Amino acid sequence: MKAVVTGGAGFIGSHLIDLLLDQGHEVVALDDLSTGSRANLDRASAGPRFRLVEGSILDEDLVGSVTAGADVVFHLAAAVGVHLIVDHPLRSLRTNLYGTEVVLDAAVRHGCRLLLASTSEVYGKNDADGLHEDADRILGSPLKSRWSYAAAKGLDELLTYTYGQEHGLRAAIVRLFNIVGPRQTGRYGMVVPRFVGQALTGRPITIYGDGQQRRCFGSVHDVVPAMVTLACEPRAEGQVFNLGGREETTIGALAHRVRELTGSPSAITHVPYDEAYGPGYEDMRRRMPDTTRAHELIGYKASRDLDDIIISITDSLRAPDRAVAT
Ligand SMILES: NC(=O)c1ccc[n+]([C@@H]2O[C@H](COP(=O)([O-])OP(=O)(O)OC[C@H]3O[C@@H](n4cnc5c(N)ncnc54)[C@H](O)[C@@H]3O)[C@@H](O)[C@H]2O)c1
Repeated sequence: MKAVVTGGAGFIGSHLIDLLLDQGHEVVALDDLSTGSRANLDRASAGPRFRLVEGSILDEDLVGSVTAGADVVFHLAAAVGVHLIVDHPLRSLRTNLYGTEVVLDAAVRHGCRLLLASTSEVYGKNDADGLHEDADRILGSPLKSRWSYAAAKGLDELLTYTYGQEHGLRAAIVRLFNIVGPRQTGRYGMVVPRFVGQALTGRPITIYGDGQQRRCFGSVHDVVPAMVTLACEPRAEGQVFNLGGREETTIGALAHRVRELTGSPSAITHVPYDEAYGPGYEDMRRRMPDTTRAHELIGYKASRDLDDIIISITDSLRAPDRAVAT
């Protein structure tokens, strides 16, 4: 199979590429290296079946030439992370809306299958016990840039679905729930690498808000094989699947767990949301996936627990060739 991975130099994209190469496929990554890095592709670049094309999904000609002849496109390129979205709302919207349209158009023209990486953010403030794919979305005002990512990804899903209905695009959608693992950077507000980076350098571990917000972290090593299977599974076409972990934790408990597992002397402190993200920031108290649909179709089951995940991130950040995340 010949695969294109947009956003392939990013955290999830680079793990996906390693797996596709291990399975014997040919892979082209298209990435503008805005939040991704060449270092994430060191392993992939060592072999002959991989190529990185540096450029943007906003470049229609480039996307057209990269997807020509591909069997499948994994569309992961996006402006990701609360800080980036809040600090650069217009650029993020363009990437997440227009960029997706460019990729969908190219996939239709070249007859490629497509997998869209969407997000649990589309559920917004719905804090139900186990969010099913058909759960309602509860979003704040569209004028709050904090919700622009969720709004754009929701439209990306609708575009993908409609390209399937009207142009015969064979596409599936995954909603990823707080996926973590090695290579994720804490720079854009991702909480686990940020906590581990703070713990390893002895700086205070900073919890935004009261720390009682609950999340369920999923391992990139669990999620990436499911993405490959769903992209190639005809019964997944036209459907959306939640993918994530199984163990719920408060952010406060996560901070203590990180400190314990890293053996760090760091203090644990709280930072008000306003100070972390600017005035008027809204968070959701709880986000927990129901992954029954993916389990029933492809046998998806998260196998790594939170301790495994924290330890793997700690090991990767301690490795001599990796800088500790900030
Ligand atoms: N990590 C998570 O927990 C999570 C959760 C939900 C959804 N997702 C989705 O998964 C995908 C990958 O996220 P990630 O966590 O690996 O983030 P990431 O920032 O590491 O990856 C995104 C990649 O897209 C690239 N990119 C950004 N704009 C681009 C453009 N215009 N053209 C080409 N490349 C561009 C970046 O350089 C980066 O390599 C994204 O679509 C994201 O919305 C991730």
